[in-house]
Amino acid sequence: MAATPPNELVSVGEVLISAEELQKKVSELGAQVSRDYAGKDLVMVGVLRGAVVFIADLLRNLTVPCEIDFMAVSSYGSSRDSSGVVRILKDLDDSIEGRDVLIVEDIVDSGLTLNYLIRNLQARDPASLEVCTLLTKPERRRVDVPIRYTGFEIPNEFVVGYGLDFGQRYRNLDHVALLPEDAVPGR
Ligand code: IMP
Repeated sequence: MAATPPNELVSVGEVLISAEELQKKVSELGAQVSRDYAGKDLVMVGVLRGAVVFIADLLRNLTVPCEIDFMAVSSYGSSRDSSGVVRILKDLDDSIEGRDVLIVEDIVDSGLTLNYLIRNLQARDPASLEVCTLLTKPERRRVDVPIRYTGFEIPNEFVVGYGLDFGQRYRNLDHVALLPEDAVPGR
């Protein structure tokens, strides 16, 4: 039998939210969304790339019919600070006119990216538009954004794992970990 390769991700930083806590919360959110969207025309819009893991788990906890679509946006700024100037790298494949849209985000930090997305999608005349985010950092908020479903409020720390990256790494952690202040992208 082949030897198990060493897990180089284990020692990233302190575990902030364990895999078990994440799964429990996602199943609670799934139940809540299923209750609220019974009889509606739900399309979940995942924001690439960070929300991929969360939306995949959330989807499997829904008991109502739904579709998923994706948008990719890039926010100008450093890897830790967004500028509010957002560019669409990939737009939705389908129209959301008249649909009940739920934006699924990995994390709301300053709120600038989400603020842009809400305004952009609202202009397409959905029947309803709500937001579900796994994480939020209320201390960092620079613009007020309406969030219907929140997984966890976290302190003002940079985190990785469960879809969230630093320099495109660490998305494959099954938990959310703090990133050490001295971490280098792509390490
Ligand atoms: P905002 O526009 O400042 O709210 O930034 C939102 C985006 O910044 C998220 O979708 C993430 O891609 C990224 N981001 C913000 N905080 C973190 C973090 O702690 N870890 C990883 N990515 C983050």
